[in-house]
Amino acid sequence: MLYKGENLKRIAIYPGSFDPVTNGHLDIMERGLSLFDEIIMAILINPSKKSLFSVKERVELLEKSTEQFDNIHVDTFNGLLVDYAKQKGAVAILRGMRAVSDFEYEFQLALMNRRLNRDVQTVFLMTGMRWIFTSSSIIKEAAAFDGDVSGMVPPIVEKRLKEKLRMGN
Ligand code: PNS
Repeated sequence: MLYKGENLKRIAIYPGSFDPVTNGHLDIMERGLSLFDEIIMAILINPSKKSLFSVKERVELLEKSTEQFDNIHVDTFNGLLVDYAKQKGAVAILRGMRAVSDFEYEFQLALMNRRLNRDVQTVFLMTGMRWIFTSSSIIKEAAAFDGDVSGMVPPIVEKRLKEKLRMGN
């Protein structure tokens, strides 16, 4: 609920691993901008999850891929997402939903987050049909075997994927 005098800016947190950011993520982000005044793309710092790109690299790739948007910010967080959302004054958590296979995990996450903080709503947006089968992991796998991932990730990500995989990680 919005009370008199409260900040009218509607901020959403779009959390994820973004290892790396894909055009599917950017599609959700752009759709989210029609609902929110500001979106914070927040990368979870999770040392126990093996990632291809370091947090620093992921931040850079996200920043470069979103630089044309004034109301998109890139940040990192650790700990509970709802605590981070509260600290940022966010009203919502934004997540993308592709196929039914995403549903169970997303449902669990959203309900746990609601239990932890009832003031932060989870908002799911459907990706465009062209991104329905893309995911960071499938893109990494294709790129590792020299598959063409152009058009599925921003050009800078495609370049960095090639460099990284050529270096043998
Ligand atoms: O891109 P991902 O890996 O699907 O993103 C998962 C993410 C970062 C949204 C989720 O793991 C998360 O929010 N982790 C932070 C810890 C937390 O608050 N977990 C949910 C309640 S236990």
